[in-house]
Amino acid sequence: MTEVAEERIRVLIVDDFAETRENLRKLLQFESDIVVVGAAGSGHEAIEVASETKPDIVLMDINMEDMDGITATEAILSEVPFTQVIILSVQSEQDYMRRAMMAGARDFMVKPPSSEELIATIRRLSVFARDKRKEFEKPAAADVAELPPGAAGYDSSHRPAGTVLAFYSPKGGVGCTTIATNIALGLDTEETPTVLVDGNLQFGDVSVFLNLQSKYSINDLTARMDDIDPEILEDVLLLHESGLRVLAAPPRPEMADEVNADQIRTIIQFLRRHFAYVVVDTASTMDDTTLAILDTADLLIAICTPDIPSIKDARHLFDLLHILEFPTENVCFVLNKMDRKGGISSEAVGENLKREVEAVIPMDERVVTASINKGIPLILSDRSSPQSRAIMQLMGTIKQRLSEAQEQEQEEEVKERPRMLGR
Ligand SMILES: Nc1ncnc2c1ncn2[C@@H]1O[C@H](COP(=O)(O)OP(=O)(O)OP(=O)(O)O)[C@@H](O)[C@H]1O
Ligand SMILES: [Mg+2]
Repeated sequence: MTEVAEERIRVLIVDDFAETRENLRKLLQFESDIVVVGAAGSGHEAIEVASETKPDIVLMDINMEDMDGITATEAILSEVPFTQVIILSVQSEQDYMRRAMMAGARDFMVKPPSSEELIATIRRLSVFARDKRKEFEKPAAADVAELPPGAAGYDSSHRPAGTVLAFYSPKGGVGCTTIATNIALGLDTEETPTVLVDGNLQFGDVSVFLNLQSKYSINDLTARMDDIDPEILEDVLLLHESGLRVLAAPPRPEMADEVNADQIRTIIQFLRRHFAYVVVDTASTMDDTTLAILDTADLLIAICTPDIPSIKDARHLFDLLHILEFPTENVCFVLNKMDRKGGISSEAVGENLKREVEAVIPMDERVVTASINKGIPLILSDRSSPQSRAIMQLMGTIKQRLSEAQEQEQEEEVKERPRMLGR
């Protein structure tokens, strides 16, 4: 590549209509400082071409058959963090715009853009792309990663989108909060910063389990939905002494109404850009909020206890997930409070529900309740207890499941490529 080409602004065009791609290309062809480095006709192809060509700017269509432009934007930014995405859409609705911005897009234009407007926007954003590209190429970038989210100089752009884990049971009191809290603590390391979200908006007790007191909660984020940034996050997230960040439930049950399903979805999407894991403790009511949480989850950890009412509810849950087309492979089934005296074995539960039980956590009221009452989770206060060990084992299973899913996704992508490129 010549030096001149390198200095030009590198643009990738994404649209499922060949004619639109061609029109956009024509609008840019006489600009000596702009070069179109690629064009893609689908979301998957866009991700692939963006990884290869590392453009400064992506012109992104919103409605594509395989993947919408917002999802493709998120994926491209996790591969090429310095790219500036301009969404081009026939719709100009606020909601699209907000979602696009939350996904990391830098501008939003209604189709067809005028050539002056498009070229001016590309030139304006190319400055950011250049600056970010330089930053990204600096070897010192690794140091930045060590800053906590929200700290001055923290940059989440190096990080691929985090994984959302939702802990859920249709029956209350089975141990969701106990397990979610311990797993979040176990996952939270310097390399994999983790946030624990109390998704039980009415009666959430995550802060009690961690002995945290603060006036800040999720309501402080919903009140500033349009301008959430890492600094606001730093103010609102509680900091546990272990380093784990926590987004607390509203301080009073009646305040739960102030948080709607779209907001919780947007907040989780925002958090996943700043943390490696977003662990959500979910209420047992299957309402819009819970559905929104499950919808964002990469892995649903479904918890059940070995008693008939809980097994019955678990069956209803699996049926419902089937209706909702939630992928079976994204569910990890856990039995808590396992007690031989109850007379129901984990094998019997697995057979009855036709689903493998992937972790069994034994019952011990004394150990578990004592840790909750002290506000010190088991994996910190009683690491050698059978419950802690079972929870650590569950953490291993979760990581394994996630890496298998990732491998499979990559394999599928490789399989799909020839078809997409051959279109
Ligand atoms: N393995 C266990 N052995 C004994 N008791 C347990 C175990 N796990 C949880 N518990 C107890 O069960 C009770 C409920 O636990 P937890 O609050 O975690 O459940 P939950 O599903 O989040 O409930 P809720 O529906 O109220 O949100 C607590 O008193 C806790 O001590
Ligand atoms: Mg709970």
